[in-house]
Amino acid sequence: MDKFLIDGGVRLVGEVSASGAKNAALPALAACLLTSEEVLLHRVPRVRDIRTMQSLLVHTGASLVEEGESTVRVHAADIVAAEAPYEVVKTMRASSLVLGPLVARAGKAHVSMPGGCAIGARPINLHMSGLEQLGAVITQSHGYVEASAPNGLKGTNVLFDRITVTGTEDLMMAAVLAKGETILDNAAREPEVVDLANLLLKMGARITGAGTSQIKITGVDRLHGAEHSIIPDRIEAGTFLLAGAITGGDVTVTDCEPEHLGALIAKLRECGCQITEPASGKVRVCASGKLRSVDMKTEEHPGFATDLQAQFMALMTQAEGISFVTETIFENRFMHVLELVRMGANIRVEGRQAIIAGKVHLSSAQVICSDLRASASLVLAALVAEGTTIVDRVYHMDRGYEQIEKKLAGLGASIRRSN
Ligand code: EPU
Repeated sequence: MDKFLIDGGVRLVGEVSASGAKNAALPALAACLLTSEEVLLHRVPRVRDIRTMQSLLVHTGASLVEEGESTVRVHAADIVAAEAPYEVVKTMRASSLVLGPLVARAGKAHVSMPGGCAIGARPINLHMSGLEQLGAVITQSHGYVEASAPNGLKGTNVLFDRITVTGTEDLMMAAVLAKGETILDNAAREPEVVDLANLLLKMGARITGAGTSQIKITGVDRLHGAEHSIIPDRIEAGTFLLAGAITGGDVTVTDCEPEHLGALIAKLRECGCQITEPASGKVRVCASGKLRSVDMKTEEHPGFATDLQAQFMALMTQAEGISFVTETIFENRFMHVLELVRMGANIRVEGRQAIIAGKVHLSSAQVICSDLRASASLVLAALVAEGTTIVDRVYHMDRGYEQIEKKLAGLGASIRRSN
């Protein structure tokens, strides 16, 4: 299993570019199943979760060609197997994103239920009940969801019990081919939802309100091919800003969308970092002085992203004072805490809140990644820890960060991969 060896203590300086967003590329790839014509996607990050989704599309009968560094050409001329097998779903929960498109296009879907997850229960009950309201018959057996709508789906009003990102995306993809109008209320407002809506619009769908909590979709008979460029990865960009901040560095993230980073930028400013936008698509963090501790609570967009909570907590170990970090989205997203504590962090967890006392001297240790964002948090801590930290099981990081060691090394970090 691959590991990172990181020598701490280097101030990061320079420019690093953001890749396309994993969490926007995943639904975009699933959306390719909605048309028999070719869809050309640019800026698709070459990360493990994307490869998993690509193999799932091939399993359904789509042909897929990778071109250049980040372009993918998908052609789902016929759906041969309207299914997502357990072997795929167990490695990537976002596989449930094919549920809506398959029922809408093929009239049926056989999709494995995701099992437990390191960060929380993460059920897909809201995807299923939404599809039921659109007229699909849903049954569950042998660990699989069987959805069927042989005569097509029918538009309706769906009110989500709680905000779900992939649930909103899944139902939006189902509703674009349903008969009549669908209204999704209490919908997720994440930029990735908007990006998916923009792709679907290019494919001929009729959607208004994406980016607000009410999305209206008027079904069409068929969608056609399209060409689309995926939005920048705000979580990757945010991780680089936090890497600059934690090392007292001067880092500019290029090819990103500052508007998507509002909550993080506000918190970094509160901590005492200087944040500027030197040009369009660029955000620069300068962290020359002392960092102040600040409280933070994760929320749905435009609140502070849960996907940056673990990395922000690493930063708080280097800020003066006490910080309260509250996780409201997932019930178990503090797996990084014990590993940070092994490196010398002073963190106590009480329910959904972590209390971090800083500033502490971090020292190198052998640590283990438990999930994608927890691994990014350990890498950030390692960048300031004294000595050489060994970060084990970096396959978690490879699920969502493209060439992370190359990008960090470009900023001056001493990081190498070994197996
Ligand atoms: N939930 C339900 N029932 C459902 C769906 C969700 O109870 O049917 C609950 C979840 O258990 C959770 C909350 O609702 O407590 C929000 O979950 P959501 O459905 O929004 O999460 P997701 O769509 O499964 C996406 C991202 C995650 C990100 C969350 C929250 C993708 C592929 N994944 O997951 O990204 O943390 O939204 O913003 O878009 C990551 O990239 O590391 C990652 C975990």
